[in-house]
Amino acid sequence: MKSLEIRKKFLDFFNKNGHTIVASSSLIPAQDPTLLFINAGMNQFKDLFLGNEKRNYVRATTIQKCIRAGGKHNDLDQVGFTKRHLTFFEMMGNFSFGDYFKEDAIRFAWDFLTKEMELPQDKLYPTVFREDDEAFNIWNKVIGVPASKIGRLDEKDNFWQMGDTGPCGPCTEIYYDRGPQEGCGSKDCKPGCSCDRFLEIWNLVFMQYDRQSSGELVPLKQTGVDTGMGLERLCVIKQGKDSVFEIDLFQDIIMQIEQLTGLKYSEQNAAKKAAFHVLSDHVRSSCFALADGCTPANEGRGYVLRKIIRRAALFEQKLTNSSIFPKLAGALIESMQDIYPELATSKEYITSVLSHEIDKFATNLVRGQAILEKYFSEN
Ligand code: SER
Repeated sequence: MKSLEIRKKFLDFFNKNGHTIVASSSLIPAQDPTLLFINAGMNQFKDLFLGNEKRNYVRATTIQKCIRAGGKHNDLDQVGFTKRHLTFFEMMGNFSFGDYFKEDAIRFAWDFLTKEMELPQDKLYPTVFREDDEAFNIWNKVIGVPASKIGRLDEKDNFWQMGDTGPCGPCTEIYYDRGPQEGCGSKDCKPGCSCDRFLEIWNLVFMQYDRQSSGELVPLKQTGVDTGMGLERLCVIKQGKDSVFEIDLFQDIIMQIEQLTGLKYSEQNAAKKAAFHVLSDHVRSSCFALADGCTPANEGRGYVLRKIIRRAALFEQKLTNSSIFPKLAGALIESMQDIYPELATSKEYITSVLSHEIDKFATNLVRGQAILEKYFSEN
């Protein structure tokens, strides 16, 4: 199933179930100093969860552009080396603001996965927060998942918060079992294990608290639901692929790297494949960040963007001696501009910033190398 069809089925399903379809917000948080980049679908609804704002809907659904490369949720160093981590991804979510809570949230997710996506039930494994018996019982008694398949995990996996402060709560996650051949082989391998066997696809957060800077959890005026499912991960399953880098959303960029380097992705060793992954992920995050108005800088979110571009420049050297990264922007923009027209509007700006950054970095590298060599010869 193509990503386009998955997008449509997701929004249609929740719309049919009373959710207003809301557009993705910009990646740059509007008025939130606690965030570098939008890192989850719920960010644009923070004030609704906190009860500081009312809108003419109590249920919403979105496909949100997210970047996790700095701040509390930061996957930058892992990208390239796992089959599932990305700095830029699209998060599909449904939200309830003082409306439905745990039971409906779980039922919606289960129905979407098993009926709309037709995923086999026996491959789905839920986890709940350690002491959340209510969620455990919904999975077990209402949905009918055997108790032996429901895990209980700690804060690290099953308590979600957007930052050091703000709305948060226990969550239940749904994992997809990709089979023992993907696993680490440990007899303790189960959902939550860091290997590639159990792929976390959906996180359903039961918003209940507002975390204060002191760490205190103040109950929210009303409970809410915030769910997030990575579009790319669902594509991996529905397209029968091994990693996010093989799904349709990455195809054009990988092909472009192949053309520019003369190297065939499928024939490369792990180190070179990692370079393909880094380039194809980083071109997505940098183009989307630039299109939303972020510029490279020496601090804050601009510094995160600069780090992403420089990381791409370093990995580029594993594949070629020429500067191909800015050229990849064209393939990305072409393949995603129908969904995100802001990419096409900023095309020239994006390409020129990327070229300038890479050139500047190359000059710095040459200068740095000379200093290092001088130091070594003198010492
Ligand atoms: N906010 C939660 C997450 O990002 C669910 O959307 O995982």
